Amino acid sequence: MSHEEFPTEEPAVVTCGLPYANGDLHIGHLRTYVGGDVFSRALETIGQQTAFVSGSDMHGTPIAVQAIEDGVDPEEFALEWHEQYEETFPKFAVEFDNFGHTHDDTNRELTYEIVEALEAEGYVHEEEIKVAWDPTEKQPLPDRYVTGTCPYCGETARGDECDEGCGRHLEPGEIEDPVSTITGNPAEYRDRTHKFFEVSELADYLSGFLDRLEGTSNATNQPRQWIEDGLQDWCITRDLDWGFDYPGSDDLVLYVWVDAPIEYVASTKQYSERVGADTYDWEDVWKADSTPADDSEPASGGGEIVHIIGRDIIQHHTIFWPAMLRVAGYAEPRSVMASGFMTLNGKGFSTSRNRAVWAREYLEEGFHEDLLRYYLATNGGFQQDVDFSWSKFRERVNGELVGTVGNFAYRSLLFAYRNFEGTPETDVSEEVEERIAEAVEEYRAALNDYSIREAGQAAVDLAGFGNEYIQTNEPWNLTDDDPDRAAVVIRDCVQIAKALAVLFEPFTPGKAQDLWEQLGEDGSVHDATIDAVHESPPGAFDEPEELFEKIEEDRVAELNEKLQERVAEATDDESDAEEGDSPDLEPLAEERIGFEQFQDVDMRVGRIESAEVIEDSDDLLKLTVDIGIETRQVVAGLQGLHDVADLPGTRVVLLANMEKATIFGIESNGMVLAAGEDADLLTTHADAPVGTKIK
Ligand code: MF3
Ligand code: ZN
Repeated sequence: MSHEEFPTEEPAVVTCGLPYANGDLHIGHLRTYVGGDVFSRALETIGQQTAFVSGSDMHGTPIAVQAIEDGVDPEEFALEWHEQYEETFPKFAVEFDNFGHTHDDTNRELTYEIVEALEAEGYVHEEEIKVAWDPTEKQPLPDRYVTGTCPYCGETARGDECDEGCGRHLEPGEIEDPVSTITGNPAEYRDRTHKFFEVSELADYLSGFLDRLEGTSNATNQPRQWIEDGLQDWCITRDLDWGFDYPGSDDLVLYVWVDAPIEYVASTKQYSERVGADTYDWEDVWKADSTPADDSEPASGGGEIVHIIGRDIIQHHTIFWPAMLRVAGYAEPRSVMASGFMTLNGKGFSTSRNRAVWAREYLEEGFHEDLLRYYLATNGGFQQDVDFSWSKFRERVNGELVGTVGNFAYRSLLFAYRNFEGTPETDVSEEVEERIAEAVEEYRAALNDYSIREAGQAAVDLAGFGNEYIQTNEPWNLTDDDPDRAAVVIRDCVQIAKALAVLFEPFTPGKAQDLWEQLGEDGSVHDATIDAVHESPPGAFDEPEELFEKIEEDRVAELNEKLQERVAEATDDESDAEEGDSPDLEPLAEERIGFEQFQDVDMRVGRIESAEVIEDSDDLLKLTVDIGIETRQVVAGLQGLHDVADLPGTRVVLLANMEKATIFGIESNGMVLAAGEDADLLTTHADAPVGTKIK
């Protein structure tokens, strides 16, 4: 790797985090993949040789748990989703040079080679640890088979990640109050022997690595803190049936996070094998020439490795992964770009709760993929969390794509077509040559800053300049009096339009191609490099068409309504779910009571005879309750929680030997049992006669 500005002499690889092959893609996922696609296309545009790779993450409990739920074989299950992803990404013009999956032979071979290298270098040891165990199912509970409390921040967490809190990776046995996700029972701990990769030995190397690492700042800040707090060794095996067997073991599989990033290498290798090593050599990119003994030195050799990920997996990419690469003799990544999350009404996308805008759904609405690409790539900085909104989407599309870019291109090309049948035969003015060169510089600088948004802004600004230019120069007033000047102005505009096609290709590849063809250009704008911005279009072209269409306000209103309904439903489900969640519940009583003591509590089946509001009180009702032997008058805090007229006839449970009390001047002789804030009344399941004692 070099730390020279892009484009460099070395080949680059841009990777996107591997999606778990376990469910539909939503536009929160797409944000990262579109980001990766835009970035890799833009690197190519500025002349950097680049491969763009990813693949499906097929192993681990994220797949196993889902497959078992669906009652299917995990391999079949994951392959189905893998095929789905292969089809879906291109619909958003996310075009990987290779999209593999982790369960194939290329990845298996590389994984074994790397794990064996970790062993051979003496970085793996065995340790007896406590792993969670379901006593009813009699099975181990790795990773997503268990939930509990994060020991670092106290939030609810999964077995191997604090996904709703601090985002840390959790080691087996670390989670507190573990509960089995299979049975809902508290998990027990059992002793098991597992393999550990000695990441703690690499702390010095990793500190230096983080100092060299480029990309977004979130990707280095957090890991620095983790190193400071002290690195733990990393458990790289699991008690699971699904995954790659640990070499030489018949009951342990490799932890999914070992073989998943190795697919970055495997996927690059497959690309290399397809196009030939003369065109692109994966080893040039991934293999180090030599690894210095000194921890502070990077390995020499390797290409420009750029990882684009969601911010929830920073630790894996800045600690575990570079540690593996280092020990196995691979090159180190140059940069990690970690994207913020997408939210809906401020809450994270959630697949299980259907709180998301689905990729499929977007396409079904009939919008061009380029609109979403542009919105995702430029709405907010890459690290920022972005709250999805159709109104924002419309604003960006109508404002920039329709109003600035589309408007400029259409006006210019239409004018050129009507007055010159295409590109006027004259030179581009110096002013405009310079302005285009400036846009290219801004674009290149933004990419070197890893700011996709600013690269887009450089292109939009050039279109803005074009609009002003045509407006101030009024070529429509020049055609009669000064046709030569009119020709120059339009020639300038045509050149700006061509530059826009090139600069926008990474963002809106389909629309950029349309513009390219409108200019009479052959071939694909995807293959054009940055120099093309200064080269003249071929000459004659046909009448242009508008590139973009406005999105109407009522369309957005309609979309918003659908979305809000969905969010409301998801939120309802959530509060239902939360009722069952342990954190809000009172802790169980520590002290046990004997049956005799329980016998002292005289609870009876009763039936409410009458109910009336107690005047001047806020929440009290006066009830009469028939308990067979007698009828009791009871004061109960049920006002506002139940319909008074509905209460007579309701079967309830009455605590009959409750001390008498006088409440609001009215005697209360017993207590009606109810659960929770809403006073959910206790009743009996069948029809035990009124007066029956409860035991
Ligand atoms: N499947 C993981 C996730 O969705 C990401 C794997 S990225 C890789 O969180 F680095 F392992 F490839
Ligand atoms: Zn946490």
